[in-house]
Amino acid sequence: MQPISRRRALQLGGLGVASTLVGGLGLARSVTSAFEPATGVALAEPTALRSAGGELAVRLEAAQGRVRVAGRQATVLGYNGGLPGPTLHLQPGDRLRVQLVNQLSTPTNLHAHGLHVSPEANGDNVFVTVEPGSAFDYDYQLPADHPPGVYWYHPHHHGNVAEQVFGGLYGAIIVGDPGGASGAVSAVPVTRERVMVISDITLDGAGRVQTPGPMAVMMGREGDLVLLNGQSRPVLNAQPGQRERWRIVNACSARYLRLRMDGQDLQLLGIDSGRFPAPRGVEEVVLTPGNRADLLVTTRQGSSQLRALPYDRGGMMGGASSPTTGTSTDGVVVASLAVDGGAVPALAPVPAQPQPRDLRSAALTGQRQLTFAMGMGGGGMGGGGMGFTIDGKAFDPNRIDTAVAAGAVEEWTLTNTSPMDHPVHLHVWPMQIVAQNGQPLPAPTWQDVVNVPSRGSVTVRVAFDTFTGRTVYHCHILDHEDNGMMGVIDAR
Ligand code: C2O
Ligand code: CU
Ligand code: CU
Repeated sequence: MQPISRRRALQLGGLGVASTLVGGLGLARSVTSAFEPATGVALAEPTALRSAGGELAVRLEAAQGRVRVAGRQATVLGYNGGLPGPTLHLQPGDRLRVQLVNQLSTPTNLHAHGLHVSPEANGDNVFVTVEPGSAFDYDYQLPADHPPGVYWYHPHHHGNVAEQVFGGLYGAIIVGDPGGASGAVSAVPVTRERVMVISDITLDGAGRVQTPGPMAVMMGREGDLVLLNGQSRPVLNAQPGQRERWRIVNACSARYLRLRMDGQDLQLLGIDSGRFPAPRGVEEVVLTPGNRADLLVTTRQGSSQLRALPYDRGGMMGGASSPTTGTSTDGVVVASLAVDGGAVPALAPVPAQPQPRDLRSAALTGQRQLTFAMGMGGGGMGGGGMGFTIDGKAFDPNRIDTAVAAGAVEEWTLTNTSPMDHPVHLHVWPMQIVAQNGQPLPAPTWQDVVNVPSRGSVTVRVAFDTFTGRTVYHCHILDHEDNGMMGVIDAR
């Protein structure tokens, strides 16, 4: 975060927020400077809970507590006292039952991000409110052909989402590769698997989560500390020649992660639920808030740093830009990997994965345009602030914005008229990206969060199959969602 210059402040003056934002940012800097990241601790992983006999039943208690974050005692939010919460390991066809207990001081609920499950009743229903002191029983039935991959859970109570996620409420869900059965995804031989939940947070000198000022809310709050499984710059150890499978979740409220690790071989198996037919060699992986990566790392002798490089996600008309545009081109060190010792024998090659479904040849039953915009007035941000809208409207849980027929295959063009990127997410049904700024994509690419660049567009196709019901699509910069950039879809 750079201090705002007088020139910038004057430009922003036209928006009527300059005086508050200058004070807000200045205060945030001075208060947080006492909190320095600790380094050198071995990477820990959240508690792993695994389904057995086709079922996993867990109790998740959301509460504030004292936890060690970045080597210091901090007062944060967590599920079952941890940040991140436990990792839930499932198989396609499993039933997941979660008793969510709300020990927070604000209403909450639970969302199983990316899971292809029913959005109704006790399923992945984001319209549920769990009041402080009460509990709710969720029951999710995964279809037998549920895509394997990396998913995650987090609160979704409109108006409290950014605060609760930023405070520490998130955890990973892994849906395992079925393996063996003909026609199914075959398991990938690896030396080891790691679950890596990346989040960010800002703590004040007393270890409390910092409340962002209005400008940070407008941009989407980014934390000063980038955490990997709740740790700052942990150390990973390996021997040369290992093939590790890293399940990476971007649980940040607004920060885009442009991940890079020079000196090691990186291959991407897939993003979100979208598995590629063969792993792709990559130098960098960009994850918007909400995205996940299924990454293979073949280790090479030496020390490497996993870095989150600056990413320009835009800003306000020549004014403040996002903190991730950053000052340092080196970005932030997320972890370091030390590879040493004798080389391990090579593993069997990664088996071919199934060809992804391709909706480009499907018969379309409808086409829509959705416009993501920012402007004065509108909803949210408390009286006269910046409004975040879809098709000119702020979120209203009692309005259906998009009605689709069950089984429909639709093409949506998502247009962003604002000077900032918006990562657009649809619940329950994954999206196939077919074009970016009007340019067709060569291969089928499936994601459940799709970046719509500032003043750009993305065209996606969606098959509304398996489930009916009412759910949402929204910007996954959680402050934007909380301030209105969310719509209701009903599949009937
Ligand atoms: Cu990860 Cu509707 O959210
Ligand atoms: Cu979601
Ligand atoms: Cu947004």
